Amino acid sequence: MHGFRFVEVQKSFGSNRVLRGIDLEAAQGECVVIIGGSGSGKSVMLKLITGLLAPDRGRVFVLDAEVSAMREEDLVPVRRRVGMLFQGGALFDSLSVFENVAFPLREQGGRSEAEIRAAVEEKLGDVGLEGIGDRAPSELSGGMRKRVALARTIAMNPDIILYDEPTTGLDPANAKRISLLIKNLHAKLRATTCIVTHDMECARIVGGRFAFLSGGRILVDGPLRDIEKYDAGELRAFLGAEGGLE
Ligand SMILES: Nc1ncnc2c1ncn2[C@@H]1O[C@H](COP(=O)(O)OP(=O)(O)OP(=O)(O)O)[C@@H](O)[C@H]1O
Ligand SMILES: [Mg+2]
Repeated sequence: MHGFRFVEVQKSFGSNRVLRGIDLEAAQGECVVIIGGSGSGKSVMLKLITGLLAPDRGRVFVLDAEVSAMREEDLVPVRRRVGMLFQGGALFDSLSVFENVAFPLREQGGRSEAEIRAAVEEKLGDVGLEGIGDRAPSELSGGMRKRVALARTIAMNPDIILYDEPTTGLDPANAKRISLLIKNLHAKLRATTCIVTHDMECARIVGGRFAFLSGGRILVDGPLRDIEKYDAGELRAFLGAEGGLE
């Protein structure tokens, strides 16, 4: 079974040909880091997985179901199995931390108040924030807000977790902390994980498999050491610009 799979996917916006033939698959439970420059189409790829966008050509599969062929109403049960930490990861500022994490659980329904409380406490524990449920998001640091957003993302026990630039806007210490948290959550939850980032430090910490997106295609797909050996000028320039090869 696949976590997700792109087959010859193309996506344009007007004359802007963003994805020109993407072939990429992740086995269930695998962790894939997509690296690429700003505007290369990383967020578009995640939106194709969640069915928020449809490809012009090619096919996108999630848990072996073809989301690119689904009607909006059929996407609802698939989306429940996919958690997404959005670029920016906005919290509801009028709700407490507890209610933010409880939100998707209440929305889905079918759980008692005790079950919701237990689930929220567990997920806040998973991100290292136990006991802060009563706080307001405005009282938290940027790194803590990110972790609350992450607790909300994993509240539904998703089979697939997508992270869009999880370290953007954080100082280096908090960026490192979030990166380690993502790695530990993957080890614990074993959800198929896809991280898109242009933060090479985050990519190195999370590790696993790397896909380099450039010019609308996946240029390299493999462990970081393969990528670093690969002599594509563009990739070397990118890695150099984003913190250098070691
Ligand atoms: N809904 C849309 N309508 C029109 N153009 C779009 C839309 N979504 C994305 N694009 C364009 O597609 C290209 C890729 O966008 P995308 O957001 O995927 O980039 P990215 O790789 O995530 O960049 P960043 O690292 O800055 O987040 C950009 O040129 C963007 O302007
Ligand atoms: Mg983006």
